Amino acid sequence: MYNEIDLEKIDLNLAPPTEEPARQYYFMAKCQEWVHRFSEKNNRLPQACVINMGCQMNAKDSEKLAGILKNIGFELIDDEAADLVFYNTCTVRDNANQRMYGRLGLVHSLKKKNPHKKIALCGCMMQEDSVIEKIQKSYSFVDLIFGTHNIYKAAELLVTMYHSDRMIIDIWKDTDKIVEDLPAQRKYSFKSGVNIMYGCNNFCSYCIVPYVRGRERSRSSEDIIKEVKKLVSDGVVEVMLLGQNVNSYGKTLSQDISFAQLLQKIEQIDGLQRIRFMTSHPKDLSDELIDVMRQSQKICRHLHLPLQSGSTKILKAMNRCYTKEQYLELAHKIRSAIPEISLTTDIIVGFPGETSQDVDETIDVVKKVQYDNAFTFIYSKRTGTPAASMPASASSDEIKANFDRLLKVVQETARSRAGRLVGTIQSVLVEERNAHDPSLVSGRLSNNTLVHFPGDVTLIGKLVDVRLEAAHGFYYTGKMNSQ
Ligand code: 5AD
Ligand code: SF4
Repeated sequence: MYNEIDLEKIDLNLAPPTEEPARQYYFMAKCQEWVHRFSEKNNRLPQACVINMGCQMNAKDSEKLAGILKNIGFELIDDEAADLVFYNTCTVRDNANQRMYGRLGLVHSLKKKNPHKKIALCGCMMQEDSVIEKIQKSYSFVDLIFGTHNIYKAAELLVTMYHSDRMIIDIWKDTDKIVEDLPAQRKYSFKSGVNIMYGCNNFCSYCIVPYVRGRERSRSSEDIIKEVKKLVSDGVVEVMLLGQNVNSYGKTLSQDISFAQLLQKIEQIDGLQRIRFMTSHPKDLSDELIDVMRQSQKICRHLHLPLQSGSTKILKAMNRCYTKEQYLELAHKIRSAIPEISLTTDIIVGFPGETSQDVDETIDVVKKVQYDNAFTFIYSKRTGTPAASMPASASSDEIKANFDRLLKVVQETARSRAGRLVGTIQSVLVEERNAHDPSLVSGRLSNNTLVHFPGDVTLIGKLVDVRLEAAHGFYYTGKMNSQ
């Protein structure tokens, strides 16, 4: 949480403070001096652009970066032609890395046209040694690289970058630090992500996240509540609580608190209307949490519960710590307690050792759970993870055939679930003007489904009752109830 600091009042003749976040305010003030000099010389503000290439956790980090840049005095734009471009990268699958390299090729040509242009890379992909080596060798025009643990240091690193003509690299292997009280530039005025924990201790055998985001650290509930209250006083009505495994919230704290208890505290905040959270690991999802969700007026009727595989054999090799039967029982318990809930999931196809019979088991779970939606991925080998040294069994043609079989069932189930709310009146949080038809606005139901209906921009950020008239695949159209 950030209380406005007057950067002009910081004495830059003194040495930088050693304490955080004071040290970063000092470097923001130093950067601001640079911005003033740039503006005088060029008769315009320097422009910066932050490109987010990853998950919600990354998007939240991008907002922090943008907040620091805005405070320093950069004009934030949505165009990679900016004088300073940050790419906040992802590395969960190899195609994320390939996308980044493709993007670097394009931005290099823009850099040749703009003598002021600086390119900065940060985020998960930068935590990998092989990536840094490759960038040093083949993309030497990059000016600044940092990772996931020191994003709060962006201002300090910018000062170093602007005083150097070499590539600046600052990567930390891990950290136990949580530096807060820095500015953030929120993408939406009415909804916001809130980190409740950082890192991950699960070590699913295919997953690179524990290596690039470090060990699990929970924030104190007091800090989280303070941040949510401040957001609500700024007009936020919906929060998304963020963590790699929110169900294990509190385990690293000396305070005795569970995720369900944290939710109960957040529920009591006046003015807050909706609570979402991401991501739940099935192994840690407690009966207490199901009960708190059932009784809650604010927790949204949506649960993303990654399955990954429906085969107990593959789940074991993935180190997921649950069996097919345990997952099915959990899904059944949730659906019985909260019948209106939407369940969504993630599934990986092509994990080492997976056979067509294993995929049949996954398809069986999809049919039984009847997911509202499922994100399906082809397994991508991540160097350094335990699965990377497991021998592949199926050919890529077999994997593709299994993937297509699964996708067909996922789409059929999702289609049969869609539309079940037609004819009912539901509360919609209006998010934006419809991109294709300006007479419409678009918003989301508690269960996260999109709804488009006639309305104007004054509705943005408001919860309104909408009669759902028709279902079209993954969205509804309707009319405001008063119309
Ligand atoms: N290959 C394919 N998919 C992966 N995921 C995570 N790691 C990999 C990988 N190595 C998927 C999981 C996870 C989602 C965010 O990405 O399904 O839940
Ligand atoms: Fe998010 Fe994982 Fe990608 Fe990092 S690697 S941006 S934590 S999905």
